[in-house]
Amino acid sequence: MAKYLVLCCLVILVAFGFVSGSAAKEEVSVYELKKGNFSMRLTNWGATVISVVLPDRNGKLGDVVLGFDSVKDYMNDSTYFGAIVGRVANRIAGAQFTLNGTHYKLIANEGKNMLHGGPKGFSDVAWKVKKYKKEGRDPHIVFTYKSFDGEEGFPGDLIVSVSYSLIGDYQLRVIMKAKALNKATPVNLAQHTYWNLGGYKSGDILSEDIQIFASHYTPVDSQLIPTGKIEPVKGTPYDFLKQHTIASSIKKLPNGYDINYVLDGGAGDKMKRAAVVHDKRSGRGMELSTNAPGLQFYTSNTLKDVKGKGGFAYQPHAALCLETQGFPDAVNHPNFPSVIVYPGKSYRHFMLFKFWTAAPSSSS
Ligand SMILES: *[C@@H]1O[C@H](CO)[C@@H](O)[C@H](O)[C@H]1NC(C)=O
Ligand SMILES: *[C@@H]1O[C@H](CO)[C@@H](O)[C@H](O)[C@H]1NC(C)=O
Ligand SMILES: *[C@@H]1O[C@H](CO)[C@@H](O)[C@H](O)[C@H]1NC(C)=O
Repeated sequence: MAKYLVLCCLVILVAFGFVSGSAAKEEVSVYELKKGNFSMRLTNWGATVISVVLPDRNGKLGDVVLGFDSVKDYMNDSTYFGAIVGRVANRIAGAQFTLNGTHYKLIANEGKNMLHGGPKGFSDVAWKVKKYKKEGRDPHIVFTYKSFDGEEGFPGDLIVSVSYSLIGDYQLRVIMKAKALNKATPVNLAQHTYWNLGGYKSGDILSEDIQIFASHYTPVDSQLIPTGKIEPVKGTPYDFLKQHTIASSIKKLPNGYDINYVLDGGAGDKMKRAAVVHDKRSGRGMELSTNAPGLQFYTSNTLKDVKGKGGFAYQPHAALCLETQGFPDAVNHPNFPSVIVYPGKSYRHFMLFKFWTAAPSSSS
């Protein structure tokens, strides 16, 4: 059996390895984590989640994240499907900031602004695989990346790691860490999986119920840059304090949701519930907790004819992203929680996903 597994791994490595990454010295491969009927596939390209497979209410297994069939497609995508984004997730206005009297000019990749760490951020590099255990009681994988001083314009060398672990019953834990080696630098990592609990080709997520544990949000301008204000969600289409369908208020917004929530449950480093999603069609549910202060809720507004797994074309609202994070453009808003990590100090960002499935329906 063990021999067979080793052979299997070799076959997978040979099949997916040696994909030539631009400037990447690391071999790019596909890895699997598996615990009973709960499994996922990942690649070290961007420390990316490729698939998450869960049973529905009738025990039928389905993949609940958007993505591509081939690792090569992840190397040339503009969707950030499943990736870890950084060094600074979300937008930085004018692709610049000043820190301790030094002005830093970054590489813009969305008009004049920087999005998700620039044209070649952490989602566009090969990470090292530091630990990997596919099965057993605690399946896990740890990816690491060493970011250099000046990469995409950011100051200082930075060591980054991301671990994915299947724990307990249908729980996925993600731990993102970073350590500044020589200069103070902003760090804000985010996990950019596109979820559709009905399955990646089930259509849109508008009928899914969501609850977001945030009484406030950070309004944005036309370029999706925060104005700096922190406003109550009450009386706005952003109010999901009580669970309701995504469809219920989305039409009041021009394109859909792409907004940062200020999570309730206190600032600081405390774990708190961020959101609960429930798909009535499949019976699948998901709860996300985090120690991060913010949550970007994105309803894949700009997906259009993106050809993904099995040739299926993804359209607007085909999935939702729940990106726990520091606030967008925090480097230019002194009233937002700081995202600066000082030399010798560490950044730690936890996400805990708990999945469940409703009891089988009596009719089917
Ligand atoms: C996996 O799913 C099958 C089919 O529904 C079921 O019979 C089996 O008990 C499940 N296994 C575990 C470990 O939950
Ligand atoms: C990369 O993506 C762009 C569009 O985003 C496309 O025009 C181009 O053909 C792709 N290149 C490869 C090698 O797939
Ligand atoms: C800020 O700049 C001052 C003067 O250049 C320097 O002494 C200090 O160490 C810097 N602080 C940090 C946190 O980099």
